[in-house]
Amino acid sequence: MKRNSRWWLAHGASALLAAVVLSSCVDEKIVYRDGPNFVAPPASAANFIGYSDEAAKKTVCGACHATQQAKWATTGHAKAWSTLEANAGKAALCEGCHTVSANGNAATGSVGWTATSDKRYHDVQCESCHGAGLTHVSGPARGQMLPSALAAKNLTNGCGECHSGTHHPFVEEWSKSRHATSYTRPVWNGATATAPLVPLGPNPGCQSCHIGQTILKAWGVNTNYVEKDKATKLADTPFGVTCIVCHDPHGSSNPNQLRFPVTSSDPEQNLCVKCHNRRGNPDFTGNRDTPHAAHGPLVFGTAGWWPPGVNFEETQSSHGAGKNPTLCATCHVQNYSVSDAGGKFQVQVVGHRFLPTPCVDGNKNPTDNQDCAITARSFKSCADASCHSHTEASARTALETAEADIEFLAATLQVMLNSPLVPASQKLPAAAGKVTSARGAAYNIALASSAGAAAHNPFLVKALLRASMVQVNKEYGVALPPGITPRMLAPYDTRVMPTRPLVVGGDSN
Ligand code: HEC
Ligand code: HEC
Ligand code: HEC
Ligand code: HEC
Ligand code: HEC
Ligand code: HEC
Ligand code: HEC
Ligand code: HEC
Repeated sequence: MKRNSRWWLAHGASALLAAVVLSSCVDEKIVYRDGPNFVAPPASAANFIGYSDEAAKKTVCGACHATQQAKWATTGHAKAWSTLEANAGKAALCEGCHTVSANGNAATGSVGWTATSDKRYHDVQCESCHGAGLTHVSGPARGQMLPSALAAKNLTNGCGECHSGTHHPFVEEWSKSRHATSYTRPVWNGATATAPLVPLGPNPGCQSCHIGQTILKAWGVNTNYVEKDKATKLADTPFGVTCIVCHDPHGSSNPNQLRFPVTSSDPEQNLCVKCHNRRGNPDFTGNRDTPHAAHGPLVFGTAGWWPPGVNFEETQSSHGAGKNPTLCATCHVQNYSVSDAGGKFQVQVVGHRFLPTPCVDGNKNPTDNQDCAITARSFKSCADASCHSHTEASARTALETAEADIEFLAATLQVMLNSPLVPASQKLPAAAGKVTSARGAAYNIALASSAGAAAHNPFLVKALLRASMVQVNKEYGVALPPGITPRMLAPYDTRVMPTRPLVVGGDSN
């Protein structure tokens, strides 16, 4: 491989522009092929080289980078031109995003397709993201062609240069989500602009979900990009959960180029649950016994403190696998168009604010301010979900009912925990290190109060609260509040199991 790199360096552009013959040789990343490489690009293309064979979708880059070429050829990017051509609304102004141009890379002005209208620049190719390639292919070396991992509304490179605007406002929506700012959390030592981030410092675990560079590394993406080694100071460019954290830019075997499937019930494999799974059960070894991103464990039915001997018979949410194959994405990533009262198209909502029940304006367009009454929220995601025949109104009522039940049970359990019969030594934080029922019950109250708990798994949450009441009663002798009978503490939603008693280790069965 070394020999070949030097060969390219020594022979430079002139050799490339002619028919090049090399002895074939393969290493783990790069393949050298025999045969002609490409015809010199027009000068006005500004060093963008595009396809060597447009009909066969062979990029010049792909002659050597065979892995990326093979993956990329399966993506929508590789057919962006034919998609545009097949559309009745096509016009010159459409073309910059469906071809190799200055969009997506650091170049500006007219380059590639927009400068030449040469079909070698059809589709969204390697150079769309990596920039002009002539210099690199004339003398390939490391440190060249680096793409950016950033995504922000006003950048002049990155996915957002094309994935923006009223028809596909991915970057606009994403910028408003907390995925865009996860790196600003106190997940390093010292939260000032110049204090060093500590990628492998005292809390390396934090960064593997909050800081883009560390997430990619944790997921085995060790390739080079502009910001790769710039996560050491806040003044540098640490980034959050950007487009390329969730999407593989070259394509993948999952739909929508996702790095991991959204359909998997394996918490290690489900894209969302790889991160939304920090602390779904209390950690009794220290004082960290509040939930932290327990969404995955809730939906999958493993979350919470299960009192000793408790064995719920059925804990998977009905919003979990089976009836809801796309799991989190069904509710949190919705795509629909918004029209005004006269039926005129306004904007495509692409679900990249990740809001399941957004506050919307009169046209159902999510508003910037997401603090609103439940009646001002859209429940479209529930009504669209294939699992059952909700209308928006019935879904909202179902959620309100579950929330009210959970709130009541959580408040009641809290009253029990406040009883002087529960010794202070059993509670936080003095009980650090001890597994006590008071700490477990407090964890369940926090879990029940976390945003979305009533949607993620109302059955499990109610069961946990009821089981905690029985346990606090049993262990500390705190009476059940007036009006509550043991029978009412049956573990599940009454809709599912009206009278079944709680299964508490040996006591009741
Ligand atoms: C030069 C413009 C451009 C850039 C830059 C660009 N895209 Fe795209 N992207 C498109 C177009 C156009 C399509 C639609 C292609 C089609 O369906 O014909 C698309 C489609 C997609 C799709 C749907 C894929 C599929 O296979 O159906 C995903 C996901 C995507 N892009 C992600 C990204 C990410 C992530 C980045 C940045 C790393 C990015 N894109 C950069 C223009 C671009
Ligand atoms: C700002 C960049 C940009 C411009 C300009 C642009 N497109 Fe696209 N186009 C995209 C992206 C990005 C996608 C992929 C979006 C997605 O998957 O939701 C896309 C997807 C499409 C699709 C696939 C179907 C769909 O809606 O997902 C069609 C058809 C299309 N564009 C036609 C057009 C036409 C016609 C024009 C001009 C009127 C145009 N595009 C202008 C970026 C652009
Ligand atoms: C949509 C944008 C996009 C497109 C299109 C794209 N890349 Fe990339 N490429 C990236 C990003 C971002 C990275 C870094 C992150 C990663 O590897 O997932 C990268 C990484 C790479 C690397 C790895 C560098 C290393 O350090 O090992 C190579 C090689 C590469 N791309 C070549 C290609 C080739 C060849 C094509 C076309 C067949 C292509 N890319 C198409 C965005 C893109
Ligand atoms: C003639 C073969 C050849 C062609 C054509 C070629 N590359 Fe490379 N590329 C290489 C070699 C060799 C390296 C250095 C790899 C190494 O040392 O590990 C490299 C490295 C890279 C890197 C990694 C840089 C880094 O610092 O890690 C990227 C990204 C890349 N190429 C993208 C492209 C893109 C995009 C194109 C098309 C414009 C392209 N390459 C065309 C041979 C080629
Ligand atoms: C397994 C992935 C993961 C790890 C590891 C992780 N977090 Fe988080 N963190 C998340 C997710 C996902 C959220 C979003 C939770 C939500 O919105 O309810 C979050 C939210 C937060 C928040 C915002 C809480 C709020 O509700 O406003 C802070 C602060 C935070 N994390 C700090 C940390 C610190 C400090 C560490 C290390 C001690 C850490 N995180 C480790 C995934 C993780
Ligand atoms: C937290 C993970 C995550 C991040 C970050 C993310 N996406 Fe996505 N994206 C998804 C998921 C999940 C889907 C598929 C939704 C589904 O299957 O219903 C998707 C779908 C898409 C699609 C195809 C949608 C369609 O309707 O055609 C495009 C294009 C896309 N994303 C672009 C982007 C861009 C651009 C960014 C950065 C601004 C980005 N995504 C950031 C998770 C993410
Ligand atoms: C790479 C890790 C990671 C992945 C993958 C991920 N998230 Fe997140 N998510 C986070 C972190 C970290 C936060 C919290 C950011 C903060 O407040 O610091 C967050 C926040 C959120 C929020 C709160 C959004 C807001 O703006 O209030 C939602 C909802 C969410 N994620 C849903 C999802 C869904 C759905 C998926 C899968 C399609 C997903 N996440 C994939 C790490 C991730
Ligand atoms: C049945 C629909 C549904 C499913 C499935 C679902 N969620 Fe939610 N999620 C909601 C609702 C409703 C809320 C509450 C939203 C609110 O209060 O603004 C929520 C809240 C959240 C929040 C807190 C957002 C915030 O504003 O702090 C996060 C993070 C989250 N969900 C992640 C996930 C993850 C990860 C999955 C998959 C394991 C998932 N959700 C599955 C409906 C759902």
